Amino acid sequence: MSATAKKTAPLPDDIRAMKGGTPIVSLTAYTTPMARMMDGVCDFALVGDSVGMVLHGMPSTLGVTMEMMILHGQAVARGLSRTMLVIDMPFGSYEESPEQAFRNAARLMRETGAAAVKLEGGQHMADTIAFLVARGVPVMAHVGLTPQSINTLGGYKVQGRDDQADALLADARAVAQAGAFSVVLEKVPAGLADRITEAIDIPTIGIGASPGCDGQILVVDDMLGLFTAFKPKFVKRYATLGEEGEAAIRAYAEEVRARTFPAAEHVFADKAPGT
Ligand code: KIV
Repeated sequence: MSATAKKTAPLPDDIRAMKGGTPIVSLTAYTTPMARMMDGVCDFALVGDSVGMVLHGMPSTLGVTMEMMILHGQAVARGLSRTMLVIDMPFGSYEESPEQAFRNAARLMRETGAAAVKLEGGQHMADTIAFLVARGVPVMAHVGLTPQSINTLGGYKVQGRDDQADALLADARAVAQAGAFSVVLEKVPAGLADRITEAIDIPTIGIGASPGCDGQILVVDDMLGLFTAFKPKFVKRYATLGEEGEAAIRAYAEEVRARTFPAAEHVFADKAPGT
């Protein structure tokens, strides 16, 4: 049974139990209205650190702070009651030591009500994942293209091609063994994503990966077509809100300049009739 049939939000263990079943549905969310739209439709919503690029116009996710994540996490939490909330740990908030990771993960969960945190990294983060899980922090891992490492990965390239494939498989195995309840596979060739999905016992959540993954995630603004000039190969646009928004703003500007907006129905009479 899909976790979305529930009246309450699924828990990390419910998501883990969806391995191999009906695909897990997820999107990023950064605001209350968007969260309300996906509540009860998605199994989980991720307050991704992509918020820095998507909503704040940052050039990468590296400048995102704990305070930004908490502010957006709280906004998303207000819009969800039947969809699980997962929140990203921002760059610099977990890499230094398991203790640092626990302190910041606990703060994110305490101040937003998120059920789990997501962090980037494979084998080198396994000890930290085990440390967090042992202390009550459910962890979603993220391997493949890890945007917080673009400066060492050399950009937003597909990961795990050719001789890198075994290392990526080892990363996925390591985070599963460490106790992560699921793992995001970002920009991984489809055949390798399928191999990883078969090899590990936790759900894989694909973005630019394979329909064979146990679930999918997209950045909500991308799939709604809110960006007119940005269309990566792995994004399907289910709406063209960016174009509609631009047209609406142009129409509004014309009407204001022509004094046709506001019209009679949009303004208040000086005195109610008969008074
Ligand atoms: O920050 C984000 O939006 C993400 C998703 C792309 C998985 O990590």
